[in-house]
Amino acid sequence: MAETLLIEGGHRLSGTVAVSGAKNSALKLMAASLLASGRTTIERVPRIVDCLTMGEVLQHLGASVRWDGNTVEIDTTRVDSVDTPYELVSRMRASIIVLGPLLARYGRARVAMPGGCNIGARRIDLHERGLERMGAVFEHAHGYIEARATRLQGTMVTLDFPSVGATENLMMAAVAAAGTTVIENAAREPEIVDLADYLGSMGGRIDGAGTTTIEIEGVQSFRPTRHRVIPDRIEAGTFAIAACATGGEVLLHGARADHLDIPLSKLDEAGARIRSDADGIAIRMDDRPRCVDAITLPYPGFPTDLQPQMMSMLAIADGPGSIVTENVFESRFMFVDELNRMGADIRTEGHHAVIRGVDRLSAAPVRALDIRAGAATVIAGLVADGTTEISNVYHVDRGYEGLESKLAALGASVRRVQERSPVYT
Ligand code: UD1
Repeated sequence: MAETLLIEGGHRLSGTVAVSGAKNSALKLMAASLLASGRTTIERVPRIVDCLTMGEVLQHLGASVRWDGNTVEIDTTRVDSVDTPYELVSRMRASIIVLGPLLARYGRARVAMPGGCNIGARRIDLHERGLERMGAVFEHAHGYIEARATRLQGTMVTLDFPSVGATENLMMAAVAAAGTTVIENAAREPEIVDLADYLGSMGGRIDGAGTTTIEIEGVQSFRPTRHRVIPDRIEAGTFAIAACATGGEVLLHGARADHLDIPLSKLDEAGARIRSDADGIAIRMDDRPRCVDAITLPYPGFPTDLQPQMMSMLAIADGPGSIVTENVFESRFMFVDELNRMGADIRTEGHHAVIRGVDRLSAAPVRALDIRAGAATVIAGLVADGTTEISNVYHVDRGYEGLESKLAALGASVRRVQERSPVYT
């Protein structure tokens, strides 16, 4: 049954929160385990719906997947299918990431075409074009992508845009291709570096991950491995913004400041006091946040996955107003209507948003439209007068491990209840 989050606003966040493993890394590492035959162990995997769905994708392919807390053991010995059905891809479009490893290991992959989503069209042309350059042949029929390759060949691929997913799919295909592949204009996200480290520990040869040029020398075989996922910079950033919005003081245990340079510098500009060391990041906001501008860009730019949360904080910021520009996804302002229902003053024009900070937000029933838009409504609820009801909470559950318990431990008043009546979308 659908669930609703009830958040009583007005409590400042204070205390320590342990940052979980990065969802966007764990998903790819789980998929990459398909490259080797045998039992791989991945630690610090967030136990959230998206990672459970990736487990189901692997099980559908014939792997056995065992969870023990945040450790996942994947045994790929009995993988006997290359088919990923629509039922799974429609739940999580990141399932498309099995394309590269399946092609590399079995020379064939059949994956349902992901549809659109709440933040834009999200094409996969760059994944396909890159794999085609490596010798794969694609056919599209009945809502499925079918890819074949007798032997992938190393080549030079220049991406039109540093797509995270395309870079990852190409890396996972290239590690098993004949010869050397060079990916130019590659994505530089920390999750790319984590994947390169993981593939390296499986026997892959990768150079330059984290820069715009990644060079990969194909090898013939891979061994199962053991790996610990990097901390989730987006979860850490979400709590940092929530702390600032509520005028709180939070230690983000395990967070890496070097993965959050620009978001932290924006929070600093907004008035936060920030300290970081090997244990994590301590952040404190004494006054009302000041307005700042932000422009989303591929890493190391301001992450699009923190844009909605930042907008919630800026909705109550002091000063003449803020401008937020979204450059990565075309429709990532749809949640603005929800914030405006809570009294925010945000106007959007194309990919720009103008936010005039108001003194306070006012609680209202709102919907979580996607993972990060859902997190934005949570932050708005934390600072609003009264009790905010957030429906479609399953979106938030896809991306945040134990969100309510973590918020409650920081002093927030959050409850989950069964939805009283269906919400039609
Ligand atoms: C990943 C993250 C997502 C994050 C995004 C950008 C996962 C599971 N998801 O998504 O949370 O918001 O990176 O940091 O890791 N594009 C094309 N053609 C393609 C591929 C992408 O035009 O073949 C466009 C997309 O439509 C989008 C932009 O490139 O506008 C960025 O997409 P991409 O970097 O590929 O994001 P994902 O890997 O899907």
